[in-house]
Amino acid sequence: MVNIKDVRVSNSNLKAKNTGHGPLFVIGTSGIGKGTLRQFAKCANAPKVYIVDRSMTSAAPLLSELESLNPLGTFIFIETEISLIKNVDTVCAEIKGKEQNLDLVFLSAGYLSVAGRQETSEGIDTFSSLAYYGRLRIIDNFLPLLSASVSHRVISIFNGGKESTIDLHDLELRNSHSFTNAINSATTQTTLAFEELAKVYPMVTFCHVHPGFVTTGILDRLTGTVKGIWRLPAILARWNVVPVVQLFGRSIDETGEWGFLLQRVQSIHQRSRSTRMKWVLLCQTAWMLRRALL
Ligand SMILES: NC(=O)c1ccc[n+]([C@@H]2O[C@H](COP(=O)([O-])OP(=O)(O)OC[C@H]3O[C@@H](n4cnc5c(N)ncnc54)[C@H](OP(=O)(O)O)[C@@H]3O)[C@@H](O)[C@H]2O)c1
Repeated sequence: MVNIKDVRVSNSNLKAKNTGHGPLFVIGTSGIGKGTLRQFAKCANAPKVYIVDRSMTSAAPLLSELESLNPLGTFIFIETEISLIKNVDTVCAEIKGKEQNLDLVFLSAGYLSVAGRQETSEGIDTFSSLAYYGRLRIIDNFLPLLSASVSHRVISIFNGGKESTIDLHDLELRNSHSFTNAINSATTQTTLAFEELAKVYPMVTFCHVHPGFVTTGILDRLTGTVKGIWRLPAILARWNVVPVVQLFGRSIDETGEWGFLLQRVQSIHQRSRSTRMKWVLLCQTAWMLRRALL
């Protein structure tokens, strides 16, 4: 089994090897996105990263930290509400106007909510837009840039491996929205879409990842969405249960270290197919074992 010490050695060796990166595109500046960005800043050589999230004010401390971690890096923040597809298209068009290729598209923006279907101004369920529709649109927009890169990969941090039956007659969850249906639908559609995309673009690596339980603010925010008679128990759980549960999660920095390892699966495309398969299995096994243990 790969352990975190080996991951750290492997990550730090990358900088020593002076392996360069093409531009990277990362959505999400809290939680897992934050941990992964820190790893890029620590371990990559002069990375150029486009970072997208909805608040420049919230992202400002992280941006300063990234710049001090890697003075040679370029960290470009774009503020926009990425649950809107029109905003996704605008951001992608802006980047496509500046770059010839992209090495990585890393997607982790999202949230959990029991507040039911909440539509964006475009009529899409907001949760589904962040977890699936917006992410697929970003990938679709960037496929030409990913295809033009030597080392190209897409990592979607969500719920890979937990696919289930979904209602094919209500993919948009207009009639059957619930907490679990929303997660199941986005999970299964992501994996199916990635499998199809992988057939059409065999040189691009598509990873749909369940990160295990990570101590981000996601549970805290989830309890904040509870309404009605469950509101009081949810508040109590927020202050008493969530902090205890958090003790068993993985930190965002450790998750970032695993994420940084995962993003290098692509670099083995240059190697033989058998070596490539070993790497893929190694990474998948490592993630699955971590998930099973937590
Ligand atoms: N944490 C876990 O244990 C866990 C486990 C399994 C799967 N996941 C999945 O992994 C992904 C990342 O989770 P995380 O724990 O890193 O979450 P997080 O800490 O809550 O961060 C979510 C990110 O999404 C951004 N975001 C952008 N637009 C948003 C909008 N309209 N509404 C809500 N958030 C928006 C947030 O921005 P702001 O900073 O502005 O809020 C934040 O950067 C999610 O899809 C989650 O379902 C997480």
